Amino acid sequence: MENIRVQTDGIAKPGRGKRAVGTARDGISPEAEAARENPGAPGRRAALILGIETSCDETAAAVVGNGAEVLSNVIASQVGIHSVYGGVVPEIASRRHIETICSVADEAMLASGAAPGDLAGIAVTCGPGLEGALLVGVSFAKSLAFAWGLPLIGVNHIEGHICANFLTDGDLEGKRFLCLVVSGGHTHLVLAEKENSVSGPMRVRVLGRTRDDAAGEAFDKIARALGLGYPGGPAVERAAKDGDAAAFAFPKARVDGGIYDFSFSGLKSAVLNTINKIKTAGGEPPVSDLAASFQKAVVEALVEKTMAAAAETGAKEIALAGGVASNGALRAAMADVCEKRGLGFHVPPPVFCTDNAAMIASCGYFHYLEGRFSGPDLNAEPNLAL
Ligand code: KG4
Ligand code: ZN
Repeated sequence: MENIRVQTDGIAKPGRGKRAVGTARDGISPEAEAARENPGAPGRRAALILGIETSCDETAAAVVGNGAEVLSNVIASQVGIHSVYGGVVPEIASRRHIETICSVADEAMLASGAAPGDLAGIAVTCGPGLEGALLVGVSFAKSLAFAWGLPLIGVNHIEGHICANFLTDGDLEGKRFLCLVVSGGHTHLVLAEKENSVSGPMRVRVLGRTRDDAAGEAFDKIARALGLGYPGGPAVERAAKDGDAAAFAFPKARVDGGIYDFSFSGLKSAVLNTINKIKTAGGEPPVSDLAASFQKAVVEALVEKTMAAAAETGAKEIALAGGVASNGALRAAMADVCEKRGLGFHVPPPVFCTDNAAMIASCGYFHYLEGRFSGPDLNAEPNLAL
C-alpha cells in the first residue's frame, strides 16, 4: 500500500520566513528583480515556492521559503505497490501519481500555512525520469500555475538533488563545491560554482558520470540477486551491517578514458558470478558478507573518484546527493576522508536524499531569482541532461 509521509521534524514554522508579496505573470517578479539588482538587500530571499515531484515512484509536494526554509514536505511513496514486481512499473507509477497528486499538493499547502497568493512560483520536475510519471507532475503544476496566476519553473531532477544540500546547509550556497549525485537513475560527479567565480547563478559542470548502471541501480540488482527485495539500497545496507566487508575481494570499477566516469556493471557481474558459483556447488551464499563486500567496493569507487576530482579541481567543499547518499557507509567514508584532507563535507539528511519536492522547490527558487521561468509549452523530458 501507499505510504504517505508528512514530514513534521525539522520543518520551519509557518510565518517564520518572509512571505512573497505579489506574483509575476510575465517574466520576473518585482521581488526577484530587486534581488537581482541588489543581492545583499533585505528581501532578497522573500519567496515561497511550491515544488512538485513525480519523476519516479514518489508523489511529492513541498513549500519552501527562501530556497532553504522547508515549510512543508509531503511524500507519498509507492514503494509498497512496486515491491511486488521487484522494481518500478512505469504505467502503474503514472496512474498512482494521477490519483495522489491533488491530495499531496493540498496537504503540502495546508501544512505550510501558505495561501496560493503567498506563493512566488510553482517549480516542477520536468526531467529526467519516467515519461508518463513526469507528465502527471508537469500538467498538474502547469494547471495550478495557470489557475493561480503564478510563474511556472521547470526543474532538472538532478539539479534538484544537488540543491537538497541548501535545505539544511545554508553555508554551501554560494560556495564552489564538488557534488557526487548518486541515485537509482544517475551517478554524476559535478562541480558547482558561481558564474564569474564569485557572483551570479550557480552553474554545474559534469566531470564524470556512469558508463552503465547507476550506483542505486547496482544496489537494487544485487539486492534482488540476494533475495533482499526492493528497494535494494536500504536492504543491502541493513544486511551489510552483520557482514564482513573483507570476505570477498570484488574488483574495483575500471573505466578507460574519462577518468571521473564510473562503471558498476563489472562489479555487479562479479557479485552475481560469485553467488552462482556458490549455489552451483550446493552452498548457501553468505548474504551479509556478500552485501558488505559489494557495498565496500561501491563506496571505495565513489570516494576514490571524488577525491581525485577534488585534488584536480582544487574544490574545498564536497557534497553528496541522491538516494544512495542516505547510505551510512558512504556517508561515513566520505566524511572520514574529507576530515583527513581538510575538506568541508556536506550531506542532506536521508529524507532530502531520496526523492522529495523540497529539493525541487529550492532549485526552483534559484531559477526564480534569475528570472528563468518556463513557458506554457513546458513538457516532460525523460532524457533531460544536466
Ligand atoms: O534519488 P532516489 O530516491 O531516486 C532516483 O532519482 O533514482 O534514489 C533511489 C535509489 C534506489 O536505487 C535505492 O536503492 C537507493 O537510491 N538507495 C540506497 C539507500 N537508500 C536508497 N542505496 C544504498 N543505500 C541506501 N541506504
Ligand atoms: Zn532522484
